[in-house]
Amino acid sequence: MKKIAPSILSADFSRLGDEIAAVEAAGADWIHIDVMDGHFVPNLTIGPPVVKSLRKVTRLPFDVHLMIDNPDSYLDAFIDAGCDILTVHAEAAVHLHRTISYIRERGVSAGVSVNPATPLSLLEDILPDLDLLLIMTVNPGFGGQQFIPTMLPKIRKAKAMISAVSPRIVIEVDGGINLDNISTVAQAGADVLVAGSAVFASGDYGLTLPAMRALLEN
Ligand code: DX5
Ligand code: ZN
Repeated sequence: MKKIAPSILSADFSRLGDEIAAVEAAGADWIHIDVMDGHFVPNLTIGPPVVKSLRKVTRLPFDVHLMIDNPDSYLDAFIDAGCDILTVHAEAAVHLHRTISYIRERGVSAGVSVNPATPLSLLEDILPDLDLLLIMTVNPGFGGQQFIPTMLPKIRKAKAMISAVSPRIVIEVDGGINLDNISTVAQAGADVLVAGSAVFASGDYGLTLPAMRALLEN
């Protein structure tokens, strides 16, 4: 079953708890939480205390996407705050195998994300150690950007690599996903579709999320 993970980056930050409850009621599978540090990406968002507070409002898995330098320094804080999936960027983690191993030792699913310009071949040797591969289809930092179409063959390539090595690894795709392209992205191989602005700017989550789901099931 394909999953939909609304990114709260485009939610109303003054009402985050209510926003999460609303997308949960509308059928969200995971809650995607974008963490930015102003170094790895040119934007600042939220940290562990906010994740910890939000943990009280839903039982949905928290899919935390760290767009930060030195992720090792913050793994414990995010795990203790209650994340279920913790994803670091391949470009930011120098000793990626150590980082992934640590996340898994702590009982959390470990993801690695690659920017649009980062080749999948970088992950070839550690692929079997991953739980999730997050393919960025925009340059990370902001919601509401356009999906980069040349990432479709990359998703297909990732699917082929994973099928050959370890089919249990989940492929998540993040950036610019909307009602017009969600079906194509899923068919290319995405198991989890992140959508920020397409959900939260749509006004009616109760219409948008079921519409996305219907497109995934066709
Ligand atoms: C981008 C973030 C994405 C973003 C997606 O840096 O990692 O999760 O919020 O937002 P949309 O769906 O609007 O591209
Ligand atoms: Zn993200």
